[in-house]
Amino acid sequence: MRKLIVNGGNRLVGEVSVTGAKNAVLPILAATVIGANESTIFNVPRLRDVEVMENILLSLGCKVERLGKMMWVDSKPLNNIKIPEELVREMRSSIILMGAMLSRTGEVVISYPGGCEIGPRPIDLHLKALREMGAEIEEAHGFIYCKIKGLKGCEIQLDYPSVGATENIILAGVKAEGTTIIRNAAREPEIIDLQNYLNKAGARISGAGTSVIIIDGVKELGNVTHNTIPDRIVAGTYMVASAITGGEIVIKNIIPDHLQATIAKLKEAGCIIYTDNDSLKVIGPKKINSIEMIQTLPYPGFPTDMQAQIMALLSVADGTSIISETVFENRFKHAEELVRMGANIRIFGKVAVVKGVKELTGAKVAAKDLRGGACLVLAGLKAKGTTEVENIYHIERGYEDFHIELKELGADIKMVD
Ligand code: EPZ
Repeated sequence: MRKLIVNGGNRLVGEVSVTGAKNAVLPILAATVIGANESTIFNVPRLRDVEVMENILLSLGCKVERLGKMMWVDSKPLNNIKIPEELVREMRSSIILMGAMLSRTGEVVISYPGGCEIGPRPIDLHLKALREMGAEIEEAHGFIYCKIKGLKGCEIQLDYPSVGATENIILAGVKAEGTTIIRNAAREPEIIDLQNYLNKAGARISGAGTSVIIIDGVKELGNVTHNTIPDRIVAGTYMVASAITGGEIVIKNIIPDHLQATIAKLKEAGCIIYTDNDSLKVIGPKKINSIEMIQTLPYPGFPTDMQAQIMALLSVADGTSIISETVFENRFKHAEELVRMGANIRIFGKVAVVKGVKELTGAKVAAKDLRGGACLVLAGLKAKGTTEVENIYHIERGYEDFHIELKELGADIKMVD
């Protein structure tokens, strides 16, 4: 079992360039099946989740070529409507293929994605919206069978600004008859990137990034070339790496506007942050300030995907911080691992009380999910002694060469089998 071994105490100094956004490229790869066209996508990160989506496209009959950070998909030969169960189980976000496949073939069979480490991850909002658009959906034996006579555009009010549900409705609306309006839509930047990719292929979508998205159905989509936006969560993770080690890191290839909530909280923690138009510099403080309250919220609020990372930072802050996780049911599993390293964290439902300690000590810990794994590495960078992080396959789902990049920034870190 591979693990990361971190010897803490080094200041991280240097530059790191951020890869393309996992949560932008996954819906875009799902969208490639809609048009029976060729898509050339640049800035595609080399991640396990991207490989899973690539394997799903191949299993559907698409042609996929990968050259470095570029991925080419030809969805003309698509000849299958059943998404392989083992791949859906490996990556629950493949549920957004439902909308894309309904647009392309009018039917799809997909296994129930099931929950994951951070909560039950229901898909009721997805299914309710697709039914409103005319899909006949049956759930039986752990599978979801969707059939459609013709997707009809309609007005959908989301009970919660779900990222995945917003993406699924967009993908189902691209070729639907008439206009689809999504109200209380998620406003994440990755949805704007999906809109941009689809409009370049000939779709007619507007409003992504706001709470109201309008999709006018079109007849077909043409070939498209697209450059994926940078990953704001990977960027935020390296920002915390600088903050927790009192370092000085320049993070390149970013869109500062996507990082405003993270920038604000790291400044509250005492970081000095300079931003340029596509990069920023984070100078970590000698003394980390505690933060009275952090609440994770849908974009543009503080991202839930940065909650674990900031908890690592606050576990060595000067004072007590409160973290309220409002987005997911069960996203504090990293807290018990931080406590093994000497952190003083108490969980009350969806609220964590983090009392900063003078020092963390290295320990054997295990990643329980993607961002929780990154959090434990960040804590190891600071802890006295050696930290061993197991189950690093979680980290590899969302971070490309994480330990290599950290080593280049001066961390004493290695991967062992
Ligand atoms: C996306 O997940 C991201 N994944 C997540 O990133 C991210 O944490 C999340 O959005 C929130 O920003 C991808 O984009 C691949 P949601 P998604 O639907 O779409 C509830 C990472 O670390 N909900 O906005 O699944 C749900 O249970 C991952 O990169 C329903 O109740 O998130 C959750 O509590 C982790 N019913 C909340 O909404 C539904 O039908 C937010 O979920 C759908 C969601």
